Amino acid sequence: MKPETLAIHHTKDSTEEIKAVSSSIHLSTTYLRNEDGRFTNDYRYSRLDNPNRRQLEKSLAILEKGEVAYTFSSGMGAINAVFQSLKSGDHILIPDDVFFNVHMLLNDVFNRWNLRLTKVDMSDLEDVSKAIQSNTKLIWIETPSNPLLKVINIEAIVKIAKSNNIRVGVDNTWLTPVLLNPIELGVDIVMHSTTKYFGGHSDVMGGCLVLKKNNELSEKIKQIQLLSGAVPSPFDCWLIIRGIKTLPLRIKEQSKSAEKLANYLESHPKIKKVNYPGLKNNAQYEISKKQMKNGYGAMLSVLISGNKNTAISISNNLKLFTTATSLGGVESLIEHRESVEGPHTTTPDNLLRISVGLEHIDDLIADWEQALE
Ligand SMILES: Cc1ncc(COP(=O)(O)O)c(C=O)c1O
Repeated sequence: MKPETLAIHHTKDSTEEIKAVSSSIHLSTTYLRNEDGRFTNDYRYSRLDNPNRRQLEKSLAILEKGEVAYTFSSGMGAINAVFQSLKSGDHILIPDDVFFNVHMLLNDVFNRWNLRLTKVDMSDLEDVSKAIQSNTKLIWIETPSNPLLKVINIEAIVKIAKSNNIRVGVDNTWLTPVLLNPIELGVDIVMHSTTKYFGGHSDVMGGCLVLKKNNELSEKIKQIQLLSGAVPSPFDCWLIIRGIKTLPLRIKEQSKSAEKLANYLESHPKIKKVNYPGLKNNAQYEISKKQMKNGYGAMLSVLISGNKNTAISISNNLKLFTTATSLGGVESLIEHRESVEGPHTTTPDNLLRISVGLEHIDDLIADWEQALE
């Protein structure tokens, strides 16, 4: 055989013989069709399925206690698929402080599909009931919300939704299945930006949808995933799988630190308000205590005593909190949200959003102490 042929045919995957402890990354875009016309393990073409994606989807479904999971190349890709599963004229309820990109997606893209929406304060169950219309097909929940950290009573919303034959979807990015399992509370769809805690190291984008049931809705989502093609690469899946292995340890430790930081900041005279579900005087503390497990999350936001400039200068004074968007990595981040949310934002201009990382909590508190001085 010539070198060209040898180079291709003697670099084949031999994982089976190697018995590697860590999974291999299968970059092949296409798979051998057997003589009988079948494909081994049903792998044909990487957009449709590949070993790394299948491994990740199986793991996500197990963690979120759903029957099936579908992965996407970003969290927004996953949310987009949920909205695409609806039809023109359908109506959805979204939180009044919904993640601003979701609002933009609905307002700037899905309005062309005639998808109707109503923004509701989901902590007011009466308002939720009142906002339901005959064509309401989905209630979309973010808990805790971004960036005000409002906690939504999922069981109560599910009850309202089920009595009106409406599906419920929850963006569980901020808590992960380690702290909350929405499917156990009756939710139909759980969404994650796996870019955040699942990846855990700020180096991979991804999203997923976990469905309670393998039914006609999951088939629709699967069809959208396969045909619209916003799928993660095998390497992305591999990185997220690697992140999953330490997810429970990371999120529990980060939550513990966030709770300590929230308590410290709450008692500081230069902080006007701390939004954190684990604070005893938080309006939704009792719901959080009942609904969450293993901690209250590693995200919080604070209202600084002062104006926008005070908030920005405090954020700049911090040395261990990197001024950057996103969350869920091992490094602590801080962000002045009003500046990134654009002209239509309703976020207070003295609000800073904090993602607590894995640095030692004593050092993080000392950093705030010097920054606030
Ligand atoms: C709660 C939440 N949902 C969805 C997203 C979107 O995820 P991605 O950036 O992976 O598209 C984000 C990103 O910040 C988020 O914080």
